[in-house]
Amino acid sequence: MPLSTVELLDDTNGLDAFDCGKPVLNAWLTGFARTNQARGFTRVLVVHDDGAVVGYYGLAPSVIQPNSAPRAIRTGRPPDPVPCLLIGQLAVDRRYAGQGIGSGLVKDALQRCIAGADIVGGRAIVVRAIDADAERYWQSWGFIAARDNPSVLMRSIQDVRLWLTDASH
Ligand SMILES: CC(C)(COP(=O)(O)OP(=O)(O)OC[C@H]1O[C@@H](n2cnc3c(N)ncnc32)[C@H](O)[C@@H]1OP(=O)(O)O)[C@@H](O)C(=O)NCCC(=O)NCCS
Repeated sequence: MPLSTVELLDDTNGLDAFDCGKPVLNAWLTGFARTNQARGFTRVLVVHDDGAVVGYYGLAPSVIQPNSAPRAIRTGRPPDPVPCLLIGQLAVDRRYAGQGIGSGLVKDALQRCIAGADIVGGRAIVVRAIDADAERYWQSWGFIAARDNPSVLMRSIQDVRLWLTDASH
């Protein structure tokens, strides 16, 4: 059976077999994804293989303090706090690594963030890297570390919008 497209997590998805190699991200999926989505804290988008989740990310509105934003995001006289969109988690099952699922999830997340920002505003997309490896991963997507926290990285909505309209992606 082919892998699904990126879909909203639902009650039929199997979560227990998921293993991305990072216990925190495995535990978040099994322990919090459903309840956090049901309570409106986050949207959870998944790719599944015959129902079993093999990749996911979490998306939510968020804010950052103006002083933590890199200069490219802090331009002008920003409000305090600065409205943003947060990709809170991203993980792919190890057995499915290297097949482009992670890139597909990131692109989907960026597109949803742009669509959301078109409706309600938002200055930047913010990510929370769980370790140095994840920091490097987000840097490879053009995200820049917050001034006060290397594990929080961001990229301006404007920049992502331009990047997505470039047909080569
Ligand atoms: C990072 C992760 C989501 C990538 O998923 P994936 O489906 O294997 O990724 P893709 O197949 O789309 O892409 C693989 C590419 O990402 C690159 N990549 C993987 N991890 C990377 C890292 N830490 N830093 C930089 N690049 C990385 C690979 O080198 C590969 O590059 P290539 O396409 O040029 O060969 C996955 O390895 C994972 O779940 N890791 C554990 C959780 C994690 O660290 N999440 C990051 C955010 S919190």
